[in-house]
Amino acid sequence: MRITTPDAADRVPLGQIDLYDPRVFSEGDPHAAWHTLRKEEPVFWQDLPDGRGFWSVTKYDDVCRVLSDHTVFTSARGALLKMLGTDDPAGGYQMAVSDPPRHTHVRKPLHQMMTPAALKQHVPRIEAGIKQLLAPMTEGPVWDLGAAMTALPMVVSGILMGLPEEDYPDLVRSGLMTVAPDDEEYQTGGSPEATLQQAHHDLFAYFARQVRKRRMDPQPGMGDADLIGRLMTMKVEGSRLTDGEIVANCYSLLLGANVNTGHVITAAFLELMEDRAQFERWARDPQYRKTGIREAMRWSSPVVHFLRYAVQDTEIRGRKIKKGEGVVAWIPSANRDEEVFEDPFRFDVGRRPNREISLGYGPHRCVGATAGQISLEIALEEIFTRVSHFEAAGKPEHLCSNFTAGVKHFAVTAHAR
Ligand code: HEM
Repeated sequence: MRITTPDAADRVPLGQIDLYDPRVFSEGDPHAAWHTLRKEEPVFWQDLPDGRGFWSVTKYDDVCRVLSDHTVFTSARGALLKMLGTDDPAGGYQMAVSDPPRHTHVRKPLHQMMTPAALKQHVPRIEAGIKQLLAPMTEGPVWDLGAAMTALPMVVSGILMGLPEEDYPDLVRSGLMTVAPDDEEYQTGGSPEATLQQAHHDLFAYFARQVRKRRMDPQPGMGDADLIGRLMTMKVEGSRLTDGEIVANCYSLLLGANVNTGHVITAAFLELMEDRAQFERWARDPQYRKTGIREAMRWSSPVVHFLRYAVQDTEIRGRKIKKGEGVVAWIPSANRDEEVFEDPFRFDVGRRPNREISLGYGPHRCVGATAGQISLEIALEEIFTRVSHFEAAGKPEHLCSNFTAGVKHFAVTAHAR
């Protein structure tokens, strides 16, 4: 997604605002549209040419409410705008597309494997994997920061899910096909629909094989070894999950993990390309390490939206939302809300307070938050130790997606310290 700094002159006429078209996010100016909406129409209805339509909420408080109040806004019919109007077949049993209390029962045993204490054992392997990925950084005159950061989360999710390293490239690609089926670089079969179908098929078949493999050769302590083992052994209200439920949750974990973490770094360095003083402060002064990551999260907001459906008639800021209508919560817009963030279009490594909600809000708040944080800390430590600054050697290529704010490629020269 393009990240811009709009002002009043960049006002977008309401009739021209389109938050559905993924190309708006890679080639247009979504921040200008959200900036306009926050000021003029914070709860905005958009009609689609095929007769469907949806609400957009763009203010911080409304985004938090829609994401967290499952009694009014359900996740169980699906969470992606691309699928608007089509109920998600995994609804009700895949964690990300279910509501409490079922959601809580599935989430708790998985969350236990991703607390800071539980993740400690994996840190040496995560560190080794990230160092290996970043090894070529300063070797040649040009390095593709975007591609490396796109691949980065797989190093972590692969370890947490217990997946073979040789499968990583295909899994990264399938994840991108899922979140950006309109992006020509990842398209197969000539259309976004065919691409999405292929990616779903490949990922579901892949995880079904992983489950089968573990069933045929069960290891002692399998439930504590990795997330797939945990899904296979845990009980929800006294019963084990079905294979369909296990596979659907593997899919959700992989996508949740793989399509965002690295973009935090790419977006931050893209912004700091011309601001070496701030890069240096972040790199050298320990007091900025944590605030810098938090600001990079706010700045990048890698997960762009989540969809909910109203389960009853309700109101937001006086606009009447009817039962059954889709409501989209735009996270990057909430993270630029002028009423919550001072000077929101300025990147500030020392920003405090910083109530950004890039990891979501409420019961679905990212279950992998600590894993993401650890990955960012390790990757940044390695970069800041080895690199004094980056210089652009090409233009960033943005992922064509209204769901993930990725940068696919960004050629840079990494100057060694
Ligand atoms: C910087 C990195 C990350 C960002 C920005 C991010 C963002 C988010 C957001 C916004 C949600 C809320 C979904 C909702 O409200 O419906 C979420 C949920 C989720 N995330 Fe993350 N995530 C990150 C890293 C990870 C990692 C590393 C994992 C796995 C290891 C992961 C797995 C998940 C899963 C499975 C959910 C669904 C949780 C639930 O429904 O309770 N994420 N994430």
